[in-house]
Amino acid sequence: MTGLFESSNKYMANRALILAAGKGTRMRSSLAKVLHPVCGKPMIQWSINAAKEAGCEVTVVVGHQRDAVIKALGPDCSWVVQDPPQGTGDALRCAASGIPPEGVLLVMPGDAPLVKPETLKALIDGHNGALCSVLTAHITDEEAKTSGYGRIIRDSKGDVRLIVEASSACEEQLKATEVNTGVYAFDARWLFNEVVPNLKPHPPKNEYYLTDAIEVAAQAGSLNAVVHNDLEEVTGINDKAALAGATKTALQRICERWLMAGVTIESPESTWIDATVSLSPETTLEQGVVLKGVTTIGEGVLVEANSRIQDSHIGPGVTIGAGSVCTGATIGERASVGPMARLRPGTILKAESKVGNFVEVKKSEIGAGAKISHLSYIGDAVVGENANIGAGTITCNYDGFNKHKTEIKKGAFVGSNTALVAPVTVGEGSIVGAGSTITKDVADHALAISRAQQTEKLGAATRINEANRAKKESDLD
Ligand code: UD1
Ligand code: CA
Repeated sequence: MTGLFESSNKYMANRALILAAGKGTRMRSSLAKVLHPVCGKPMIQWSINAAKEAGCEVTVVVGHQRDAVIKALGPDCSWVVQDPPQGTGDALRCAASGIPPEGVLLVMPGDAPLVKPETLKALIDGHNGALCSVLTAHITDEEAKTSGYGRIIRDSKGDVRLIVEASSACEEQLKATEVNTGVYAFDARWLFNEVVPNLKPHPPKNEYYLTDAIEVAAQAGSLNAVVHNDLEEVTGINDKAALAGATKTALQRICERWLMAGVTIESPESTWIDATVSLSPETTLEQGVVLKGVTTIGEGVLVEANSRIQDSHIGPGVTIGAGSVCTGATIGERASVGPMARLRPGTILKAESKVGNFVEVKKSEIGAGAKISHLSYIGDAVVGENANIGAGTITCNYDGFNKHKTEIKKGAFVGSNTALVAPVTVGEGSIVGAGSTITKDVADHALAISRAQQTEKLGAATRINEANRAKKESDLD
């Protein structure tokens, strides 16, 4: 029986417990620390993804703002509640009820988003039946003067004896440059049965420290300390400065990934790409491009300098001209946008349509091949295929109380500087004369002109100019 149990256990995925119940006071923010985004993805999701990629089933300890944190966990993730959070050791006490005390348990902080799956995998693989393996890293002598990391204390033989938190370390201990990354592999049975129930609170806050487990494992002669040579990867985010540093590294990783996938990024150091963005080969991003949220960009797209695209879907072969802003837009293949266009939520541009400079489009569908080339506002409208909207055309969609719809049917030609007072329909193949204010529907194939009749007074200009000249001369006298 035992043999069977052991062999089934061997093939069971390891479990990772991510500690995410803390408030994160040092962030000086009303948002729970683990919810702060790193390149558009909450910090906690980075840790979860890394643990999953390392082959672990994931459980998260939640506490502070737990409803919001639970929402951010994503699928296939269980959680346990720690309320109130009383330290990392207390987090394990709370997790005891939700986690079977068997196998290897990977424990990691929810505030170290850059930890790579291969690092976690190596820690688990090297654990080798020990009671505890702790991942450590080295800081510089200079960093040791101010660092808040727990210090790894080794004896004269070089064996790790214990971890001392910076807040309770003496001057000599603070000089230690080897620090605790907060990532551990534990023998779960030993941890939950023999260590966690015996943890003692530490003054002044009476918190329980998980780091006390290290001393117990050292005394039992079953502790591995694995030194990791990349401090940046295991950095814990405690304040906004560390968040900015981690974000920079995350951004570099994201750019490298897309460069390897065949995307041309002309200036990676000035380009922002959220972790939630998806790009395709043969696409070019010029300097200063910002891509945010759930955005997908197809093949062969050119995004010119300083454009910002958020939560939008850009089809293949599209050009986004310099300085354009697209939010919540869907753009069909080979369409052209900008330079300096603004597409607001609900904009749908069909294939090969064109939205030119200084054009704003909101909640409107622009048909295939339709053109709005200059200086227009199109809101709450449907523009048919191959329609041509002249410069300065405005859909007057708001009467001060309600929004109304404009429909411009296929092949219609709307002359420049036209105001379309919604609700109104401009018929298929119709023409609207430049400068019109259209308040009534225009029939299919009709010509509508609504502007004052032009009158002409022959010779009047000459008379006016002469009168003015005579006045100027008499003023000089
Ligand atoms: C902790 C370690 C320290 C280590 C550092 C690495 C302890 C006592 N100290 O310190 O040795 O160098 O991480 O980054 O473990 N959390 C809970 N419940 C709590 C408290 C914290 O879930 O009651 C979570 C936090 O949300 C956070 C993680 O545990 O994600 C670490 O907590 P934090 O307060 O940042 O610990 P550090 O002071 O950085
Ligand atoms: Ca921390």
